[in-house]
Amino acid sequence: MRRSPATRRQFLHAMGRAGGFSATYLSMQAMGLLATPASAQTTKPNLPAGSGAGKHVVILGAGIAGLVAAYELGKAGYRTTVLEARGRVGGRVWSVRGGDRVEQIGRPDQYCQFQNGFYMNAGAARLPTAHTTILGYARQFDVPLEVMVNVDRSAHWDYNKDAVTERQAVNDTKGRIAELLEKSLAGNSLDTAMTPDDKEKLKTYLAQWGALGKDGSYTGSDRNGYKVDPGGFAHPPQTMDPLTLHRIIEDGFWGGGLSFEETFDQQAPMFQPVGGMDRIAYAIYGHVKDDVRLNTPVTAVGQIDNGVRVMLADGGMVEGDYVLCTLPATMVKKLTMRLSAAKKQALANTLYGISTKVAWESPRFWQDDGIMGGLAFTDQPNALVWYPSGDWYNPRGILMTAYSSGGFGPTPGVANGASSAGQKFAGMTADERFAVCKDVVERMHPGKSGLLEKPLTVSWTQTPWSEGIAANWRPEQRTTDYAELCKPEGRVFFAGEHLSYIGAWQEGAALSSFEAMKLIAARSAGDKVVTRKA
Ligand code: ALA
Repeated sequence: MRRSPATRRQFLHAMGRAGGFSATYLSMQAMGLLATPASAQTTKPNLPAGSGAGKHVVILGAGIAGLVAAYELGKAGYRTTVLEARGRVGGRVWSVRGGDRVEQIGRPDQYCQFQNGFYMNAGAARLPTAHTTILGYARQFDVPLEVMVNVDRSAHWDYNKDAVTERQAVNDTKGRIAELLEKSLAGNSLDTAMTPDDKEKLKTYLAQWGALGKDGSYTGSDRNGYKVDPGGFAHPPQTMDPLTLHRIIEDGFWGGGLSFEETFDQQAPMFQPVGGMDRIAYAIYGHVKDDVRLNTPVTAVGQIDNGVRVMLADGGMVEGDYVLCTLPATMVKKLTMRLSAAKKQALANTLYGISTKVAWESPRFWQDDGIMGGLAFTDQPNALVWYPSGDWYNPRGILMTAYSSGGFGPTPGVANGASSAGQKFAGMTADERFAVCKDVVERMHPGKSGLLEKPLTVSWTQTPWSEGIAANWRPEQRTTDYAELCKPEGRVFFAGEHLSYIGAWQEGAALSSFEAMKLIAARSAGDKVVTRKA
């Protein structure tokens, strides 16, 4: 399986591909893949109280964008009616609990058998500190939060079918790079770039950064943990043997695990609501419940004189002054609605990403290895294993053994923005997915995969009323298709994570909703109040 040792040139090439933090960050930023810091963007619509009096907004979808709109518009005096196809609120914020049915298009239904109090966050599962809007709603509505451990150096990463701890992957990579750079300083190729004094200082820093020995070589260190743990009296530790440079190059963790926590919105500390991510959506719902109609799919949206008419699947209809459509573009495409040619083309050009998760109930065997949360990456199609945060004294917990997506940015040359591994995993039967997960868990935790029980899998392309996890905008679409979809169409306004620069996050959904509300308020200020039958 392992090929002949790579040359230094190949190694540097691999580094270049992997990018390192700044290269990855800058290229992602250039490609529009990184979130803009939310603090600068967080302007609540702050609509004047009473400014919506006499106006009725029909909101399509009770995900975060729709719920936030119902709450904020309601405060300003608008009447709102939220039409939600599902029997629950939250949209892609979905915490699946014991007794819940998981419906997937073209596949048999699954029934969650988790014990009371356990949940699988099938969609949204973490909150970055930068997402001050959604965190603000959690605070405003007293939703208890706990730390979500996104990184744990004890996790075992499985590449080339051979698991190593995250601390070994991270530290040996640093050590080997530092050693290489240290050696390159010994030659004279850098003489024009650096003074002798700079070189000496850099050598010292490299030694600290990579845990190099006095002679500039890397022989491993106690940063990796121990082969034999330290103890009292006559029990000195034995350090781990370091990974070879060749193995580090051959293993694929460069682009995945090694740079993951440097992504702007994946950095510690991160948070989760106690009891399931849907707690925030339900807290907002608690304030607008009377205006929300669950199990009410919409089939058509029409613009009538001085208003809008929304046709329902049950044959009913709702009329109002404006529509705020917060459905994903995948669902907007299916509505009967008169749209401009530009809007239709923009919708056709909007591709959504794949995301597939698998979760099990299990005894917490991973805690025997000191793993108290975080992610374990693998080169297999399940992509990663995600350990639960909190509730550590509970003998059992929910282990997420797959979150396979291929990223939320565009993947050149791959249809629908998903990586081929993400597509492959989504295409598998539930049992095939479970088998991949067990195989990976067995390598990470030998002898333990048999303890996994009650599996459940959700793939968002197969989930009714979503049919995709998030829009995959190519950077150049921001000025064309994306800009077009942000524009209202007559009395119909649009919002959702896909209409934000914080795609695939609740924050983006809320901020886009704020923008749509500002447009509705501006429009409504110039429109007459129309008297309609209720
Ligand atoms: N919000 C998505 C995640 O955290 C991108 O995985």
